[in-house]
Amino acid sequence: MAGPGEARRPPGTYKPDMTIAPWARLGARLYDPFLALSERRGMAERRGALLASARGRVLEIGAGTGLNLTHYPAEVDELVLTEPEPPMRARLERRVARSGRAATVLAAPAEALPFADGTFDTVVSTLVLCTVADAPAALRELRRVLAPGGRLLFIEHVRGGARLARRQDRLAGPWRAFAQGCRCNQPTLELLERQGLDVVELARASWRGMPSVVRPLVIGHAA
Ligand SMILES: C[S@@+](CC[C@H](N)C(=O)[O-])C[C@H]1O[C@@H](n2cnc3c(N)ncnc32)[C@H](O)[C@@H]1O
Repeated sequence: MAGPGEARRPPGTYKPDMTIAPWARLGARLYDPFLALSERRGMAERRGALLASARGRVLEIGAGTGLNLTHYPAEVDELVLTEPEPPMRARLERRVARSGRAATVLAAPAEALPFADGTFDTVVSTLVLCTVADAPAALRELRRVLAPGGRLLFIEHVRGGARLARRQDRLAGPWRAFAQGCRCNQPTLELLERQGLDVVELARASWRGMPSVVRPLVIGHAA
């Protein structure tokens, strides 16, 4: 589905928007191949395990190319996928169309979600909070749109232990330029807690098949 204010394209007629930075287009094209090895080495399974508990009205922020799509239980009442970057969103729209799943794709940033308070039972963030421009603002929005009793389900890569953190700090600039805004040294779990979220950490894991600076993963839910 096209985002608000966007023209709908007939299926199969995707045409790249030449006003979009070539790096962003290239990043979107390379995203799935870059993650393919790590998906095979456990990430796809982790997505499935986490999303099995999605229920009710579900919102995913920064849905990217839609790697979570096949992992949602068929029983969820509604699935809304937001993705602000046009080249990623174009791929997401095509994946949704191919999947035959009923899902709405919207062009909203996590910092300004176009939904009323308490709209969703489940909010999903996988590998997104490292990249949003204003993580505290995004977390306030996630809390706002969660219904009472609702949960945020997350898989995020985080700041490592002392030795790795030093390398993450050293490489934060080049990594951010390469990975389109991703902060490899961000203490995301602490950010969640600082926003008053009650975090249940389900697992720590290593994002195998990816560069060391983004390998430490935290998987959990929060309310
Ligand atoms: C590393 S990708 C993760 C994609 C997907 N969630 C996954 O698990 O594969 C980060 C995504 O966050 C999106 N993003 C960047 N800034 C954002 C923002 N302010 N709000 C929501 N998403 C954002 C990017 O466009 C990109 O699709």
